[in-house]
Amino acid sequence: MYKLSWTGGKEALEKPANALTDLLDPPADAVSMTKQDTVAEDDETAWSLEAYFQERPDSEVINTLVAEHGGLGAGFLEELPDRDWVAHSLEGLGVVRCGRFVLYGAHDADKLPDEADDIVIRIDANQAFGTGHHPTTAGCLTLLGRFSGWAPKSVLDLGCGSAVLAIAAAKLWDRDILASDIDETSIVIARENVKLNDVEGQVSLCVAAGFDHPDIAAAASFDFVFANILAGPLAELAQDMAAHIAKNGRVMLAGLMAEQEAGVLAAYEKAGFRQLNRLDHETWPVLLLVRQ
Ligand SMILES: C[S@@+](CC[C@H](N)C(=O)[O-])C[C@H]1O[C@@H](n2cnc3c(N)ncnc32)[C@H](O)[C@@H]1O
Repeated sequence: MYKLSWTGGKEALEKPANALTDLLDPPADAVSMTKQDTVAEDDETAWSLEAYFQERPDSEVINTLVAEHGGLGAGFLEELPDRDWVAHSLEGLGVVRCGRFVLYGAHDADKLPDEADDIVIRIDANQAFGTGHHPTTAGCLTLLGRFSGWAPKSVLDLGCGSAVLAIAAAKLWDRDILASDIDETSIVIARENVKLNDVEGQVSLCVAAGFDHPDIAAAASFDFVFANILAGPLAELAQDMAAHIAKNGRVMLAGLMAEQEAGVLAAYEKAGFRQLNRLDHETWPVLLLVRQ
């Protein structure tokens, strides 16, 4: 395991933090930004950015990233001894609110706010994506929390990671949800999270690439699909999405960066979708589309 770290101002570090998660090859397994302990509460200049990689990241790519985000300095790459560094880097991330949803890890159970309308979800630090700290997950949850007076009958969370969105939807809509991921480890962790959140009876899980699984075929067509994956696979899945979503059914797309939005939207318009809503985020917009 390798750790790459920089220190600097919060603003200067935010963009490369996002880029490190998804743009590098291999991508970082975990990226965290923390304020250094030694500075005053309102000091935004002393933050640390840390990214963890299973394999040594290509120094050329790191240098390009540094050049694109001026003011980062050289960064510091070190090889770490064996340990679950991904979980370690996520420990103590803190309680995060995404609209009506409040996400926490076991270590923060005593810090939960006490609001009557909150839907509380426990996701412990682990190797599956989806603690609520990344803007794509947070954006999906925020947009989901704005639904009122409409609940779908059949729901798929495609690329579920930790199953955070499936758990949120099960709690919000009190519906059966199917959740899938291409990555087996994510599904093992998702299963634990589903248990921890008492929605075992409602959320079923399967390992699948895209829609390629008998459980997905049997449950289609869907009234609602979450797909928080990257722009490339999202665009590739547009026609399959249309084939598995009912007329007037919706899809929430995330994982695309702002500059990729037009291309992804065009692929979905071509497949028969129309944009209904959009959550604005400087880097990671979230789109809500309806199938016409
Ligand atoms: C950005 S994470 C999103 C996790 C979670 N849904 C969330 O919102 O936090 C993307 C997930 O999609 C999975 N994934 C990527 N491509 C996929 C594909 N073609 N089919 C199914 N899952 C995929 C990855 O393994 C990863 O767990």
